[in-house]
Amino acid sequence: MQTDSSFTFVLFGGTGDLSMRKILPALYEAHRAGGMLAESGRIVAVARHAEDRDGYLQWVNDHVKPYVSKNGLDEAAWASFLKRIDYVKLDLGKHEDFALLRDAVSDLPGIRVFYLATGPSLFVPICHALASVGLNENARIVLEKPLGYDLKSSNAINDAVGEIFAEEQIYRIDHYLGKEPVQNLLALRFGNALFEPLWRREWVESIQITIAEELGVEARGDFYDNTGALRDMVQNHLLQLLSIVAMEPPHSMDSDSVRDEKLRVLRALKPVDERDIGKVAVRGQYHAGGIRGTPVPAYATEPGVKKDSTTETFVALKVEIENWRWAGVPFFLRTGKRLADRVAEIVVNFRPVPHSALGSPALRPGANRLVIRLQPNETIRLYCLAKQPGEGMNLASVHLDLAFDQFFREGQMEAYQRLLLDVIHGRLALFVRRDEQEAAWRWVEPILNEWSGSNKPPKPYAAGTWGPAASSAMLAQHGTCWLEEEN
Ligand code: BG6
Repeated sequence: MQTDSSFTFVLFGGTGDLSMRKILPALYEAHRAGGMLAESGRIVAVARHAEDRDGYLQWVNDHVKPYVSKNGLDEAAWASFLKRIDYVKLDLGKHEDFALLRDAVSDLPGIRVFYLATGPSLFVPICHALASVGLNENARIVLEKPLGYDLKSSNAINDAVGEIFAEEQIYRIDHYLGKEPVQNLLALRFGNALFEPLWRREWVESIQITIAEELGVEARGDFYDNTGALRDMVQNHLLQLLSIVAMEPPHSMDSDSVRDEKLRVLRALKPVDERDIGKVAVRGQYHAGGIRGTPVPAYATEPGVKKDSTTETFVALKVEIENWRWAGVPFFLRTGKRLADRVAEIVVNFRPVPHSALGSPALRPGANRLVIRLQPNETIRLYCLAKQPGEGMNLASVHLDLAFDQFFREGQMEAYQRLLLDVIHGRLALFVRRDEQEAAWRWVEPILNEWSGSNKPPKPYAAGTWGPAASSAMLAQHGTCWLEEEN
């Protein structure tokens, strides 16, 4: 890890939810670990609410410290972390405030990173204002998701930002790409010869990718109601996971080799014909229910959500990839809020043996399957059949387990920490390139259009279940079921 790259990290939205829960805790962790951040590196928070640096540090102590102390707080490291932080009170509407920002950073060393932890509607005005005071040179800009609302609005933002910053200066965050297990997926696929020959249509019957959450929309009802699960989770996190699962081996791990391969997958997604949307896409919305015995209210009664909202909180999709490796293999994707469990996992179902002399279990789909659990508890589990002890030849399902926390007891890094270090050190591989983002928007757009124009409400599901029955029915049509329905 480089330690000599000095930097000035300018955080727009310095008192926002993301800064509080993710960005500042991640910077603190990198600082606490020692050796990851250059000694001279500075953090300049930008916000409207705090009056001055003391006021901002007070806010950080009150609001960020609780998130940091979850992992055990090192008071000395916390105190020295605060010393890295400067503050500029800035009203985005006032040009003269950007001149103050320029003055505040002009003598600070190293590369400048501008992190826009703000709503996407502010991305373009902030970039213009930065350029107007010459702060776009020798700088990197980090854009949080969601970047736009659809292909058109995302293009408008990318065009405008692209006039001020070159593509190599733009870091579009998808925090799933920074997760250790997602990195491990690359290691599993491209560091081992074992799986590669099997990783194709001849041997794989279907693939499932699930990101399920127990949480609801929390305090983000207003944002979420205008967004929905397709934009919030599918267009970015799920399609990025899909592209990593399905991509060809890159010739190197440099940023463009990996992104080129992901792009090829996104471009090969079979376009969804609007007449088929009912067959390949399920949208749901949670009603009142209970999670682990605790009652939870219906989505439509959450603060900030319209009472007659038709926004989806659940999506299940059947996706196909039109290339030689994957033609005909269904990829089932799903995500939802207020589901029965918090879990993100990839399930690769291999084809059964073509003929079984050992009885029917060997002919069962999924007898051989690889389950890659991304969270919680990162594990890889390979299911096989084995002979049950005793008389006769009876087969039973057994599994080989690889639990990463038992192998690597320390060194796990939070997604945001990894990604922020990558920005500071100029590593682009884990950030979404514009063409990838466009391809993903282009693919989801027919579904977005159909759902927004439809007068049919989303299918209801009770909070604490696995989503609408139609999601299971879609898989049943392909002779399969979601992993948790197996037993
Ligand atoms: C974010 C979405 O991108 O990802 C949230 O906006 C979601 O709605 C979150 O809760 C899930 O991330 P994770 O890391 O908790 O799985």
